[in-house]
Amino acid sequence: MKERIITSDFIELDVEIEKNLRPQGMDEYIGQERVKKQMGIFIKAAQKRKESLDHVLLYGPPGLGKTTLANIIAREMGVGIKTTSGPAIEKAGDLAAILTSLKEGDILFIDEIHRLQRSVEEVLYPAMEDFALDIVIGKGPGAQSIRLELPPFTLIGATTRVGLLTSPLRDRFGMIQRLELYNPVELTTIIRRSARILGIEMDEAGAVELAIRSRGTPRIANRLLKRVRDYCEIEGRGIIDLQTTKEALDLFEVDAVGLDQIDRIMLMTIVEKFDGGPVGLDTLAAAIGEEKNTIEEVYEPYLIQLGFLSKTPRGRVVTSRGYNHLGVEVLMSDSSELQQIKLKFYDSEEENDE
Ligand SMILES: Nc1ncnc2c1ncn2[C@@H]1O[C@H](COP(=O)(O)OP(=O)(O)OP(=O)(O)O)[C@@H](O)[C@H]1O
Ligand SMILES: [Mg+2]
Repeated sequence: MKERIITSDFIELDVEIEKNLRPQGMDEYIGQERVKKQMGIFIKAAQKRKESLDHVLLYGPPGLGKTTLANIIAREMGVGIKTTSGPAIEKAGDLAAILTSLKEGDILFIDEIHRLQRSVEEVLYPAMEDFALDIVIGKGPGAQSIRLELPPFTLIGATTRVGLLTSPLRDRFGMIQRLELYNPVELTTIIRRSARILGIEMDEAGAVELAIRSRGTPRIANRLLKRVRDYCEIEGRGIIDLQTTKEALDLFEVDAVGLDQIDRIMLMTIVEKFDGGPVGLDTLAAAIGEEKNTIEEVYEPYLIQLGFLSKTPRGRVVTSRGYNHLGVEVLMSDSSELQQIKLKFYDSEEENDE
């Protein structure tokens, strides 16, 4: 499958973008007001007590700013940060080496923490709880366990799949923060900031349009901004305005609310093959040939935020809003409890203007 321009995963194109655009301080970190407020208090309290910050777990869909926030926390605390990831730590000994290299108050950032191996995770328990490392020397009946003291440190874990964390690990975090998709107002601010940093001329209407089509995700907003700029240059336009943004995004098949081909296929599949749902995740995954994980982490959150899809105990259901967006007319039968859904495509170009 070709790379989606609106994937929220990190792709090659992002390397350069993220280097320059990643906010450095809380004041540059736009949105996530609840998280910022709580973290602000948490950081100040720790500083006042001259203690290390308690362990923090950040979770939410990709590209919402978990890595960015971890780095900002380190900066605000005035401490060092070491970054690694669940799959990168292969053996318990690798983690032990990292832990012993930490200085007092330092932050250890473990990305994709749900992918830690069990044996590695077990090293983390005493480290998080007692700042201690239990090392076993020798084998068999003669084996001895010795305990090494670690300097107090802060673990910041990030994950897109909080449900996959074991409960002993989850319970050891003092603070668990969920990052939310951004609203178009916040994304507009992010886009204007990015345009300023990259020296891109863009008017307000263009920025708003781009924000609406960015799936609530700063990483996607920044990436689309770059693509729109390319389009603008090639077309010889001076400034990115509403028209240019619309044309460019239409060209990249990102529709008026930020859906791409795959999102539409998913919605259409539920409508056409499953009468609008409910359809179970396994069945849906098989029907569209996508991983269950990807559906849950990447496609669904945004479709749910738009109100196009709802999750019920019996499966996924396309809402009337979803139907509307697909250009499908939903006719409810007025006769019985049995909802008769008739689908009729109409070829109008008008969008759902709710
Ligand atoms: N609150 C924000 N304000 C402004 N820009 C942001 C914000 N959050 C994220 N960004 C931008 O989005 C990019 C992606 O953020 P980041 O890498 O922190 O996401 P992530 O949640 O760690 O993603 P992943 O799950 O893929 O690791 C950043 O480089 C930054 O430019
Ligand atoms: Mg990250």
